Amino acid sequence: MHLPEFLQVKRDRGAHDPGSLRAFVAGVADGSVPDYQAAAWLMAVCFAGMTDEETAVYADALAASGDRLDLGDLPHTVDKHSTGGVGDKTTLVLAPLLAALGATVAKVSGRGLGHTGGTIDKLEAIPGYRATVDREAFLRQAHEVGVVVSGQSQRMAPADGVLYALRDATATVASLPLIAASVMSKKLAGGARAIQLDVKVGRGAFMTDLAQGRELGRLMRVIGERAGRSVGVTLSSMEQPLGRTVGNALEVREAIDALRGGGPDDLRELVIALASDLLHASGLDGTPERVAAALDDGSAYERFVRWVAAQGGDLDRSDALALAPDASDLTAERSGVVAELDALAFGRAVRQLGGGRAAKGDRIDLGVGIRLHAKIGDRMSAGDPVATLLHRGGHGLGAAHAVLSGAVRIADAAEPAPLVLGRA
Ligand code: URA
Repeated sequence: MHLPEFLQVKRDRGAHDPGSLRAFVAGVADGSVPDYQAAAWLMAVCFAGMTDEETAVYADALAASGDRLDLGDLPHTVDKHSTGGVGDKTTLVLAPLLAALGATVAKVSGRGLGHTGGTIDKLEAIPGYRATVDREAFLRQAHEVGVVVSGQSQRMAPADGVLYALRDATATVASLPLIAASVMSKKLAGGARAIQLDVKVGRGAFMTDLAQGRELGRLMRVIGERAGRSVGVTLSSMEQPLGRTVGNALEVREAIDALRGGGPDDLRELVIALASDLLHASGLDGTPERVAAALDDGSAYERFVRWVAAQGGDLDRSDALALAPDASDLTAERSGVVAELDALAFGRAVRQLGGGRAAKGDRIDLGVGIRLHAKIGDRMSAGDPVATLLHRGGHGLGAAHAVLSGAVRIADAAEPAPLVLGRA
C-alpha cells in the first residue's frame, strides 16, 4: 500500500476502504508502518473522525493482529468492561456472581494507570494470585470453575498496544472512534458472546460528559454487534468514588463484603444492574431478585473463593489483603450535607500514597488507600472524619492531603447522587 495516499484520504476527511484500513493495521503490527506515519494517521482521525463502518473494520483489524481466544464450547460466555474509575471493584464481585448464576466469565483484565485502579492489581493483594495464566490453564479453569481472570498477554491485539503507546505520546488518546475501537478490539479478541460495557461518566472518568459517554457507548455497541456479539451499555456516574474504599487491598475487602450480601449500596446496585443485563443477554434468568439472592445466600462468595484458589491465591494467609499500618483523617470543615466528593482527587491521592502508577511498570503499594466515611447526601458535623487515609510511615501523606484540599464540599443541602445514568 502507498502510505502517503492512505494518509491523504483521512487528511481530506474521506473514508478508508476496508482493505486499506486492514492493511494499515497489519503494517503497524508487523512494524512495516513507521511510527511517524502511524502518528500522522492518528492525528488525522482526531480531526476527521471515522464512520461507524470504518470504526468497526478498524477494531476488527486490531483484534485480528494477534491471538483470539476461542471460547466456543463454553456455556453462556460473558465479559464486562469498565472504562475506568475510582474505587471500581465491580469485576471482583460481578465475575463470581455471574459464574454462580450459570454464565462463564473467562476474562482478561488490565492494571491501573494514572488515577484509576485495575482489577489485576487488586487481585494481587491476595498472596499467591497468579495473574499470568497460559491458554490451556485459562480454558480449563473456565470449564471447571466458570470464572478465570488473567492479565493481558502481549499477543492480544498487539497493534492496539503499538498504537496506544503512540496515542499516549502524541495527544491522540481523546478520540471517540479510537477509544471505542481500542477497547473493543480486546473484547473481540477475548471471545465472549455477550459483552456489558460500563461507561463511567463524571469527574473521575475518561468521559466527563454524559453525551460523550453515550456516543462512546453507542460506538462500542456498533463494533460489537457488527462482529456478531451481544453488547449492552450502562452509563454510570463517576462523580464520587464507587463504594467506600479506594486502594487495592481495601477494595478487595469491600468486594468480599458485597459478595457476602453486605458492602456499600452503590456497589451492590451497580453489580446487580450489570449482572441482570448480562444474564438476560445470555438467555439466562437475570431478574434482580435472583441476582441479589446469589449475593445474599453465599453462592457468589463460594465461587469467588474457588476462583481465587484455582489461580493460587490464599485468602487465609496472615498477609492476605494486608493494610498499611498508619492512618490519618480528613475531617469535615463545616456541618452540613456532603455535596461533592471529587472522585478524581481521591484517585490521585491514593496514587500519592503509593497505591497507583504514574507510568506503566511502576511498583505500587497494595496496602495503602482511603476509606470514605460519607457519600454525597450524607449529613456531617464539623470535625467529623469524612475519610481516613491509610499510609505507610507518612509516605506521600502531605501530597495526598494537598490533592484532597477542596475535594470535599459540604453544603446546607444536597441530594444523593444517582449512580446508573442510563443505557446507550
Ligand atoms: N482503554 C483502552 O484500552 N483504550 C483506550 O483507547 C482508552 C482506554
